[in-house]
Amino acid sequence: MKLAIISGSHRLNSQSEKVANYVKEVALSSGVASSAEIISLAGNPIPLWDEGVWANEERWQQVLLPIQTVLRNSDAIIVITPEWHGQVPSGLKNLMLLLGVQEVGHKPALIISVSGSDGGAYPVAELRMNSYKNNRICYLPEHLIIRKVNTVFNANPADNDASAQDYFHKRLVWDLSLLQAYAKGLSQVRASAEINPKDYPFGM
Ligand SMILES: Cc1cc2nc3c(=O)[nH]c(=O)nc-3n(C[C@H](O)[C@H](O)[C@H](O)COP(=O)(O)O)c2cc1C
Repeated sequence: MKLAIISGSHRLNSQSEKVANYVKEVALSSGVASSAEIISLAGNPIPLWDEGVWANEERWQQVLLPIQTVLRNSDAIIVITPEWHGQVPSGLKNLMLLLGVQEVGHKPALIISVSGSDGGAYPVAELRMNSYKNNRICYLPEHLIIRKVNTVFNANPADNDASAQDYFHKRLVWDLSLLQAYAKGLSQVRASAEINPKDYPFGM
């Protein structure tokens, strides 16, 4: 499985990026993924959407082509989002606005949300409700909410809470195996159906 991992925090040295690196390492070392590329939104590398996107302007191509290439080549996607004031960060919503069927349509996507405390449910609900309609990304019914994210997936094991680390690591491994199974199944869907119909470019 070729994996694309989106780290949706704008912050430098974010917990989302820490989790992205950990997920990448687990996916590769377990053999679940043959490749895993991280698309990081740290430092706001993508401008806010404007009409130039639809005109395919050069300045937009320069920004989007590397991201589109990673996603077009992927079989499955992981979307990592922090909870910021009960929301998905606006840069991640901006990216979802910029992605289309060619990049993510009818591909399985695992949502991982992170919270420094006991939050994390709102961004899952937000992504599920309003980030799939036109690009047709397929979120798995399973998701991972990493609460008290500072206590797990740290490079130095001494910084982890042993019990939480064990729980979230095992659950992540299971989630990755599910994602792999969906990737196999949905590749058949993409191969056997018209995924970009001219008559219905927009979802209802
Ligand atoms: C602007 C902002 C708003 C936040 N709002 C929430 C919140 O509503 N719920 C929550 O559980 N944590 C909230 N937090 C704390 C984050 O969960 C914590 O900082 C986490 O590390 C953010 O992920 P990141 O490091 O990937 O950006 C907020 C953090 C920021 C920077």
